[in-house]
Amino acid sequence: MKQSRFNQKVYWVIGASSGIGKQLVISMSQLSCRLIISARNTNALDELKSQYQKNDNIEVLPIDLSSNYEQLLDSSQKAYQIHQQLDGIFLVGGISQRAAFEDMKLSTFETIMKVNFWGALHITKACLPFLKQSKDPMIVCINSVQGKMGIPDRTAYAASKHALLGFMDSLRAELYPYNIQVTSILPGYVKTDLGKNALQADGSTQGKSEDSKGGISVEKAAHDILHYASEGKSEAIIGRPREQLAVYIKRFFPALLEKIVRKKS
Ligand SMILES: NC(=O)c1ccc[n+]([C@@H]2O[C@H](COP(=O)([O-])OP(=O)(O)OC[C@H]3O[C@@H](n4cnc5c(N)ncnc54)[C@H](OP(=O)(O)O)[C@@H]3O)[C@@H](O)[C@H]2O)c1
Repeated sequence: MKQSRFNQKVYWVIGASSGIGKQLVISMSQLSCRLIISARNTNALDELKSQYQKNDNIEVLPIDLSSNYEQLLDSSQKAYQIHQQLDGIFLVGGISQRAAFEDMKLSTFETIMKVNFWGALHITKACLPFLKQSKDPMIVCINSVQGKMGIPDRTAYAASKHALLGFMDSLRAELYPYNIQVTSILPGYVKTDLGKNALQADGSTQGKSEDSKGGISVEKAAHDILHYASEGKSEAIIGRPREQLAVYIKRFFPALLEKIVRKKS
């Protein structure tokens, strides 16, 4: 990791209360940067701040990514005003799904799209004027290998991540003249509560932990995210070799991947 890239910078980590986002905060709190940390669970954010802050380098700003643009614009302005500086946003907040499309309430589908896609889009739009003021700005978006493929019972999740990947690809090209780095990270399985927090057909959370099938640790995920972000990568798949392989099978042998994925239903 090029640690010097993060020196004296201010980053906003959204989705910082658990899993990958929490570990990113823990890892970044050791670097010479200042952090604004956001999610809905204020207690978890306060605890993270009290455990890991050094020299007042962490500030808490609660937000709900399913809020409307005006509310997220207001939060983005507050995030900037804390230090009158914003060098990067880490868009980590997200929610998964465990339900067949046919059974799903449309409102559940919409919630997943709101949090995973619209929330990230609204924050990005609101923060662009601030990022343009930075000498070395970055947008780091935690996508998923499901931004490139779909598996059963993940229609909304895969749709939101495909939309996010296309959005970030197009934005990267638009922002090139402004030197704003746009990095999409596509994790495979990471050992977090994503499955436990996933929405069922009626919109309730699954509530039980899942076997994360030998997924990588949050420490490894955060390390790799910071590595690829500091290297200025546009896109990186992180996770076990099998998930990286799946993306290549999808690209070069799509019919084979369809067969593999069908067996998962
Ligand atoms: N774990 C994996 O295997 C895996 C694989 C591929 C991609 N990812 C992606 O990685 C990201 C982080 O997930 P994770 O695995 O770390 O899961 P997690 O432990 O469930 O963390 C999800 C984070 O998103 C936040 N969040 C959810 N809904 C929100 C809302 N409405 N407003 C604001 N924040 C919200 C949560 O905070 P609050 O509940 O406090 O709001 C929490 O901080 C997600 O985008 C996920 O799609 C994970």
